[in-house]
Amino acid sequence: MQTVGQSAVQAELRFPAGFVWGAATAAYQIEGAVSEGGRGRSIWDTFSHTPGRTADGDTGDVACDHYHRYAEDVALMARLGLAAYRFSVAWPRIQPDGTGPANPAGLDFYDRLVDTLVGHGIDPIVTLYHWDLPQALQEQGGWTVRQTAHRFAGYAELVHARLGDRVRTWVTLNEPWCAAFLGHTAGVHAPGQADPAAGFAAAHHLLLGHGEAVRGLRAAGAERLGVTLNPAAVRPADPQAPGDVAAARLVDGLQNRIFLDPMFGHGYPADVLAVARRFGPTDWLQDGDEATIAAPLGLLGVNYYAPAVVAARPGEPANPTYPGSEGIGFIPSPGPATEMGWAIEPAGLTGLLERLARDYPGVPILITENGAAFADRPDAGGRVADPRRIAYLDGHLRAVHAAIDRGADVRGYLVWTLMDNFEWAEGYRKRFGLIYVDYPTQRRVPKDSAWWYRDLIARGGLAAPRTGRE
Ligand code: FCB
Repeated sequence: MQTVGQSAVQAELRFPAGFVWGAATAAYQIEGAVSEGGRGRSIWDTFSHTPGRTADGDTGDVACDHYHRYAEDVALMARLGLAAYRFSVAWPRIQPDGTGPANPAGLDFYDRLVDTLVGHGIDPIVTLYHWDLPQALQEQGGWTVRQTAHRFAGYAELVHARLGDRVRTWVTLNEPWCAAFLGHTAGVHAPGQADPAAGFAAAHHLLLGHGEAVRGLRAAGAERLGVTLNPAAVRPADPQAPGDVAAARLVDGLQNRIFLDPMFGHGYPADVLAVARRFGPTDWLQDGDEATIAAPLGLLGVNYYAPAVVAARPGEPANPTYPGSEGIGFIPSPGPATEMGWAIEPAGLTGLLERLARDYPGVPILITENGAAFADRPDAGGRVADPRRIAYLDGHLRAVHAAIDRGADVRGYLVWTLMDNFEWAEGYRKRFGLIYVDYPTQRRVPKDSAWWYRDLIARGGLAAPRTGRE
């Protein structure tokens, strides 16, 4: 076992008392066992089994086999000292066809997982939707139709009825921007559509499903209800250039304000609705929807990986992920990047948190994901040295601390991710885990970053600033 850092060292940078340290995962990325316990098919089963959709044709059929190995995985979390664990419930395990009564075997799995977590003193944080829509609902239109929002709220109540006595924190959706736009306009995620009108309809029905679920779970007595977004830290390439500033404002609308404004009770931003109207009628927006979507939040989950820099670039075709972005260039950062090609820029996180605190005040923030892909492997002695991940996490925690110092109400931090897993369209090539997974044997090997995180949790903060030699 390798140890990085000394738990005995006095914390250089302490976090507020009660700050929650944890890690996050998602069902389809780790569970495997796709045909067990009465689970139905999801859109990610269909998508990953479609030739050409994922790197190496990888699927989540086996993934980390967490469905069978959850007890071992929870024991590892306990060794790291995690106070909280965010996982997602696979809707098709609970309702194989997306509707009707709960499948008891599906609920039983999460019941066992929650009991095991609680037994180790780890607080479960449940994400109700991390992208694995039942395929049967997709065949009726998926998120592009209104019915799916109602179905989602019904499913949420089934899960809450079973787990609500032990789960205090509920996250309705994970990154609805990805589900809507990567899934329906860029087509790089399930269900693989490339239709801007479908993207906006999906975004609205995700928002509506969120609002209905919050309302239902609040009535059922849920303690803390929130949502996880991936707000972009978007900035103009030249802050003095009006064209660049306008470009940044539009992208901010298409990724951030489209979700944040209605959820915080401001209704849809006019500039975003104007873009949506270019692609078709916005008749998905019905009377009363904005009030439903504005159901009060007890928590705002923020996933942050990298900033976005944009500039006016006349003639540039629209980025398919951002319908209406003709004439906008997405500028690659010149600095260091992770193996996703995502720029490493912790200051972007500080700026984002300050902006959220300023424009959307009053709701506590939890960093529900932050982490980095680097493909470090075990050396001859079995150790996985991953200094770049440690440096990434260290830098981003300093960035969170700076935002707290400037008044952002950040209550905790969850690393993405506990262990290497199925990274969606990137398959198994991209390794984000604190724990290395040897897929052929399913052996778990905590990386140096896992022990570094354990030591950090034990001391309640960061040790002396890193020297850059690591
Ligand atoms: C986020 C997803 C998560 C994982 C990370 C790398 O967008 O929520 O499942 O794929 O990116």
